[in-house]
This record gives sequence, C-alpha cells and structure tokens, in this order.
Amino acid sequence: MRETRPLLRPMEPSDLASAIEVDTLCLPRPWSETVWREELESPFGHYLVLEEGGGISAQVGVRYLADELHVTTLAVRPERRRRGYASALLEAALGAFPEARRVHLEVRPTNAPAIALYERLGFVVTGRRRRYYGDEDALLMTLDLEARR
Ligand SMILES: CC(C)(COP(=O)(O)OP(=O)(O)OC[C@H]1O[C@@H](n2cnc3c(N)ncnc32)[C@H](O)[C@@H]1OP(=O)(O)O)[C@@H](O)C(=O)NCCC(=O)NCCS
Repeated sequence: MRETRPLLRPMEPSDLASAIEVDTLCLPRPWSETVWREELESPFGHYLVLEEGGGISAQVGVRYLADELHVTTLAVRPERRRRGYASALLEAALGAFPEARRVHLEVRPTNAPAIALYERLGFVVTGRRRRYYGDEDALLMTLDLEARR
C-alpha cells in the first residue's frame, strides 16, 4: 500500500463502522453503535479521526461543558502506534475549545502507554475513581490548560 499523509478531520456518521472496528481492536469495553450515534449527535461532543489509505487509523472524542473538557475516547490501530497520532488528535481536539480551562479523563492504572502519553502532554493524576471500570479503578487525570497558555 502506498503511504499517504494522514488526514485529520471531524468524524462523520459514515465513519461509524470503521470507528467501531478501531474501538473493538483497541479497547476492552468498546462502545455500542447506539452510544457512538448519541455521542456524534450530541451538541457537546467533538469527534475527530485520522484517515489514511482510505481507512480510519485513529480517533478521539471530547465533550465540552462549563469550561471543562472530558476526553471520552481515544484509540489508535495497533499497527499505527508510536507515530504521534494520539498526540496530534488530542491536541487538535483541545485546540478546538480555546475557552476551555481544564481537561479531565479517566484511565486504567494498568494502561502504561496511555498514562505515559497523557503525562507527556502535561496531565497529572488528580484522583482515583473506585471500581470505575467494574473490574478496575480509574485514575482521574487533569490538564490545566490555563497554566499551559
Ligand atoms: C494510548 C494510545 C492511544 C497511544 O497512541 P499513539 O498514537 O501510539 O501515541 P503517540 O504516538 O502520540 O505517543 C506519544 C508519546 O506517548 C508515550 N507513549 C505512547 N505509547 C507508549 C508506550 N507504548 N510505551 C511508552 N510510552 C508511550 C511516549 O512518550 C510517546 O512519545 P514517543 O513515541 O516519542 O516516545 C494507543 O496506545 C492506544 O490506542 N492504546 C489502546 C487504547 C487506549 O488505551 N486508549 C486510551 C484509553 S484511556
């Protein structure tokens, strides 16, 4: 396959099948199609994809409410990792809300790659949500956007 420059763009309803495939490959509890549709239709949601070679390699979602962003999903196809895709998607999603003051997200304490990524972007651990995933706690990580400006 010829390498094409990845295209970062908003997710569209026609991307849903690919998004669900990426989700299923990457996350232990992928969203159902119903959840994806609700998120895409939400006025508070902002979903981006990286498209290359006619397919979706990576995706991110955030929700914006009352000055705060919440990262709802992030996934990069296993064979496309360590190319800066997650970082680029997250920065683009955060950049779409210049008025936001803080970003929150939950991550499994055992998810070392994701924690390393978030720490590199400036997130710090600010709490722990007991049994958030049912089988595991979540670390709450926060990025202070005002301090970064
Ligand atoms: C976590 C995830 C999104 C990272 O995607 P990615 O595109 O590979 O991340 P990037 O290339 O932008 O990584 C940026 C930096 O994060 C850190 N990082 C990312 N993956 C890492 C790993 N496996 N081990 C150590 N550090 C890692 C590194 O500092 C990396 O910079 P470097 O490659 O120059 O060393 C990807 O591994 C993934 O989809 N995992 C499964 C889904 C998931 O866990 N989502 C997050 C749920 S909270």
